[in-house]
Amino acid sequence: MDFNLTEEHIYIQQTARDFAKNEIAPTAVDRDIKAEFPAEIVTKLGELGFMGMMVSPEWGGSGLDTLSYVIAMEEISKVDASVGVIMSVNNSLVCHGLQKYGNDEQKEKYLKPLAMGQKLGAFALSEPEAGSDATDQKSVAELKGDYYYLNGMKNWITNGTKADYYLLQAVTDKSKGYKGISTFILERDFEGFEIGKKEDKLGIRSSDTCSIGLNNCKVPKENLLGSEGLGFKIAMDTLNGGRIGIASQALGIAQASYEAAVKYSKERKAFDAPIAHLQAIQFKLADMAVNIEASRMLTYKAALLKDANEKYIKESAMAKLYASKTAVNAALESIQIHGGYGYVREYLVERYLRDAKITEIYEGTSEIQKIVISREVLR
Ligand code: CAA
Repeated sequence: MDFNLTEEHIYIQQTARDFAKNEIAPTAVDRDIKAEFPAEIVTKLGELGFMGMMVSPEWGGSGLDTLSYVIAMEEISKVDASVGVIMSVNNSLVCHGLQKYGNDEQKEKYLKPLAMGQKLGAFALSEPEAGSDATDQKSVAELKGDYYYLNGMKNWITNGTKADYYLLQAVTDKSKGYKGISTFILERDFEGFEIGKKEDKLGIRSSDTCSIGLNNCKVPKENLLGSEGLGFKIAMDTLNGGRIGIASQALGIAQASYEAAVKYSKERKAFDAPIAHLQAIQFKLADMAVNIEASRMLTYKAALLKDANEKYIKESAMAKLYASKTAVNAALESIQIHGGYGYVREYLVERYLRDAKITEIYEGTSEIQKIVISREVLR
């Protein structure tokens, strides 16, 4: 087993690090305060090849492996987790599904511009009454002639008000339970597609989250992804990969919290010496360092299994569960080390805590990850 990154991975890490420092960091604080979407940054991420990292070059992507994506996601999220989730949704929740389940016409029309970063994607599974219990979909799709007519409501849609294309699940046959759920490709200007309320969030405020209404939304039948009834399988498969993305986002937030704590504890003096000399601080830093490294290893392992075409359901859930908890704890401890300075906007660590919390909620709460893991363990 080789723990060293390849030259290519180091290059991607450095590219992402430079981009985050030069292009993302200067506006991160302001965008968080104003809850402003980083449109220009997203365009530049596309030009860099980061919006379709794992998509084959044939379909406009960068043709990289999942580990490259994890490494880039960590670096981007370390500076701004809002940008991290925008990138993650486009890569793992939209491009992945289109590449794996789409036909050539769908790939040409939708995957190519998404992978090249010319268009932005969103994933619409959650509903007001179907969050953790994702099989309980109320949105319905009825085929009449050449069109499906979709009715219902979707919630918590990342990139929602900004996206061009949406992968959306709706029920085509209620009698079949989750086997009657299908996935559709929607365009924002389809008749009956309504962008709903933009959410005012605790964290990842520069990312965009909204609800979506489907009011007899008219979708051409060729926009069915895969076949009827495959929707829940597509969603679960997509989320297995998505959880690797969120684990890397959490890893980035944890690493940022930790680095801020190390720096501050070397600079800040109390009792005639830097606070880093106090064992109370040292133990916090040691715990952070161990948990971050463990999160990184879990996330890398899930990525490597995915690339080896091996089963990674359990490993991606483990990575997300552990890395998200690590991010929240690292941000909390970093604030504690900063004392009062950690509690005000002047230092970045209060944002890290606000951003970290969502990683324990979206793409399956920590409780759902435990269900996924335990089912795999007991199988
Ligand atoms: N991978 C592959 N298949 C899976 C799976 C997984 N992780 N989890 C479940 N399945 C399969 C099961 O094997 C089963 O198929 P078979 O009958 O063929 O074996 C089928 O799905 C139904 O599963 P269950 O019988 O286990 O159904 P359940 O209702 O008991 O549990 C659940 C399902 C695991 C709780 C699922 O509903 C779930 O993952 N919920 C969380 C949903 C979620 O993560 N939402 C996030 C929203 S997206 C988001 O946040 C995006 C964003 O914008 C950032």
